[in-house]
Amino acid sequence: MTTKLHRHSQAPASDCYEQGPKKRWQTLRSAMLEVAFDWRQSSAGRDLPAKKIAEASCSLVVNALWNRRTDGERRWFQPWRAHASTVPLQLPRLAKQAGAALAELSVIDASFLTGTLYTALLPPGLRAARGAHYTPPLLAERLLNLASTAGADWSTVTAIDPACGGGAFLVPLANRILHDHRWRRRPPHERLEDLEKRLCGIEIDRFAAWMSRVFLQLLAYPITVEADRPLRLPIREGDSLRLAVEERKQFDLVIANPPFGRVSLRPEQRRFFSRSLYGHANLYGLFLDLALRWRKPDGLIAFITPTSFLGGQYFSRLRDLLRRDAPPLTIDVVETRTGIFDDVQQETCLTVFGPNKTKSTTVHLLSATDDGLRIERAGAFTVYGSKGSPWFLPRSQVQARILEKAATMKTRLHHLGYKCSTGPLVWNRHKDQLRKRVDKRTFPLIWAEAVRPNAFRFRYRSRSATPFFAIREGQDHLLCLDPCILIQRTTAKEQQRRLVACAVPESFLTHWRGIVVENHVNVARAVSPQAVDAAAVAAVLNTVVVDQAFRCLSGSVAVSVTELHALPLPSRDVFDRVADVLAKTTSRKVRLLTVENLVARAYGVSLEEVEAINEASLA
Ligand SMILES: C[S@@+](CC[C@H](N)C(=O)[O-])C[C@H]1O[C@@H](n2cnc3c(N)ncnc32)[C@H](O)[C@@H]1O
Repeated sequence: MTTKLHRHSQAPASDCYEQGPKKRWQTLRSAMLEVAFDWRQSSAGRDLPAKKIAEASCSLVVNALWNRRTDGERRWFQPWRAHASTVPLQLPRLAKQAGAALAELSVIDASFLTGTLYTALLPPGLRAARGAHYTPPLLAERLLNLASTAGADWSTVTAIDPACGGGAFLVPLANRILHDHRWRRRPPHERLEDLEKRLCGIEIDRFAAWMSRVFLQLLAYPITVEADRPLRLPIREGDSLRLAVEERKQFDLVIANPPFGRVSLRPEQRRFFSRSLYGHANLYGLFLDLALRWRKPDGLIAFITPTSFLGGQYFSRLRDLLRRDAPPLTIDVVETRTGIFDDVQQETCLTVFGPNKTKSTTVHLLSATDDGLRIERAGAFTVYGSKGSPWFLPRSQVQARILEKAATMKTRLHHLGYKCSTGPLVWNRHKDQLRKRVDKRTFPLIWAEAVRPNAFRFRYRSRSATPFFAIREGQDHLLCLDPCILIQRTTAKEQQRRLVACAVPESFLTHWRGIVVENHVNVARAVSPQAVDAAAVAAVLNTVVVDQAFRCLSGSVAVSVTELHALPLPSRDVFDRVADVLAKTTSRKVRLLTVENLVARAYGVSLEEVEAINEASLA
């Protein structure tokens, strides 16, 4: 089923959207950016930190917006002290016009757009470290809708955003609470008190926290005028990850688009979060752990995150924790190419976690259209398998179909007699052992370039200067002597396949007495006398359908050993039949087609569908 979410489907009628002011805003924003960047370069601005310039510019817009949207008499917020005495002359004028344009939009849109001016002016290093990529209103609305479907009741819900930025979730959440029909007729002071008890936010950036406060104030303005007092919603300036160690909180809903990226932790933080850590800590993983602690036992977590937690080894303990305490109820995958988030390269998803007796997760695919979001239901699946293993998530309708079947398939690589590892040679640690020519102590060095779909090529173009490696005493662990399959560890994004595999011919291994595999290649070694034919395994891994099944395990271009071990594969007899086809069919084209057909059937997919996938990936 496909639905569309249009701009402002939840906003009150008075806040409805128009084209004009938005276009005006875009023009004014560009002009303000130009002036602010010039200010940064000028002698007057050179001594000011770039962040102060960002704050000064945006606070002018926020003030102008406030004056335009209100009667100007009640200033229910502390003005921002910009500490910038040398503001360029044009800036206040542009800000006034920008504020006027924003005043014609909903408060929700105005807060997001002001945020985009602020984040564009932040120094790039600070922006990246803080993960300051604000959520577009359509996605925020969608996440709230998902939370609502999962049981969040706007007439009673208590909620926190521990990384609230400029209020991307708090403002629409407050909007829903204030406009909930069960509360509308209450006296204004009761509505304000209720909101203050139920919503709160934490933000590390003082200016962003200030923006959140002002936009919430602006949203509630008509009610605050009636009640003759400001809204006093607690927006705290602070580090949520530090507060998590110190404070216990309990909410019906923890909602966030947390920052992401690797982070170093202080010893007490590492101890505190150790239950969800495996190696490097990632900010968003820590925020998920925090959310598990700050939700009520039956509470919900609604998060926008990269999809890497579904598969990455670093997230294996977090996955187990989520699976045990709050399995995913719904996941929306945001199509990467649609540019819903500016500047964010990672695949993103919207997930609601919480009590899930059915163990089933509803999956939707989201993409941007000219006037809103396209929401396509992919199906309902059990996304998690055994402890520590990656979770499955279809990224297209075809993958959803494949996953339905794959979920019932029990065979994994180890059942076929293979064990994966990454190629052991990190070449730049052994530069002095790389050789151009063969001698008594050298073995062929297998670079990723050698691995082609169903073809092993030991004739390098780019690596022709170093095709051999001289093994030293005590380095036998670098040698591979067994029959094996090689699988590239990364592929380029535009490449048609994620899985590129080939078997190393036994004649090659016998001739050279072993090979040394470089670290950008995964090796699946035969570890059992009953291992199925290596060429057959490679042929199956290279099929369109297995590639699609693999994409349900990973949204990135990397192919990890964990994902290869978790990949559901056809039963052993399919591999035997494939081996037979490889042995008896001379035409390469017929061979490929027959194998493709055998494998497609095993996953319940037709050859026409395979063709369609091929065409789509070429497009
Ligand atoms: C991806 S932005 C999301 C902001 C806002 N919730 C939204 O969705 O637009 C992440 C926010 O987290 C804030 N942040 C980063 N680290 C934080 C921390 N340790 N504690 C609280 N906030 C933090 C950043 O300043 C940034 O505003």
